[in-house]
Amino acid sequence: MSYLLKACIFTFAAVLINMQNKNSLIILGLITLFCVYNFLIYTSKDGDAPIKLSSEALHGQQLWQENNCWSCHQIYGLGGYLGPDLTNVFSEVGKGPDYIKAFLNSGIKSMPKFNFSEEEKGAIVSYLQKIDSTGYYPNYEATFKATGWVELKYKDEK
Ligand code: HEC
Repeated sequence: MSYLLKACIFTFAAVLINMQNKNSLIILGLITLFCVYNFLIYTSKDGDAPIKLSSEALHGQQLWQENNCWSCHQIYGLGGYLGPDLTNVFSEVGKGPDYIKAFLNSGIKSMPKFNFSEEEKGAIVSYLQKIDSTGYYPNYEATFKATGWVELKYKDEK
């Protein structure tokens, strides 16, 4: 931000010095608009994504990364493909917390057995629960708008 400010002041000064040119006023106007526009964009708070993971879920995310779950599993289709996508494993019928923990205890096929403590298993479950709450994958609840945009249905929509 301070770089932007310095650049603006510098350009203002340069244009002011060269004021005898008639086009200077137009250039000055454009630069002012550019500065105001940038100021509004860079100082608006709208773009800040709030941190929504609880500390337990955050711990789960760390375990997810440290143990390379992502190298075999996908979330929203992104990740390795040896195991299934886990976006909605928490809420799928017949699955859920105990189901997830059972896989961590025993391993299956090429999935290794993990020796997690109860607390660590709980953390992974709460991470997967949080992911599950954000949406569906694959998402068949998409509507195509006349404007060309696709509107998706999210789980945490009010
Ligand atoms: C080396 C690959 C590999 C790694 C690493 C791995 N998994 Fe798996 N996982 C698998 C495979 C393969 C399956 C079984 C797919 C099947 O049922 O055919 C599986 C199944 C699962 C299931 C059951 C999914 C379902 O819908 O039935 C869960 C939950 C799971 N893994 C969680 C994890 C977590 C959490 C980690 C990290 C701590 C992890 N896995 C690491 C390969 C892996």
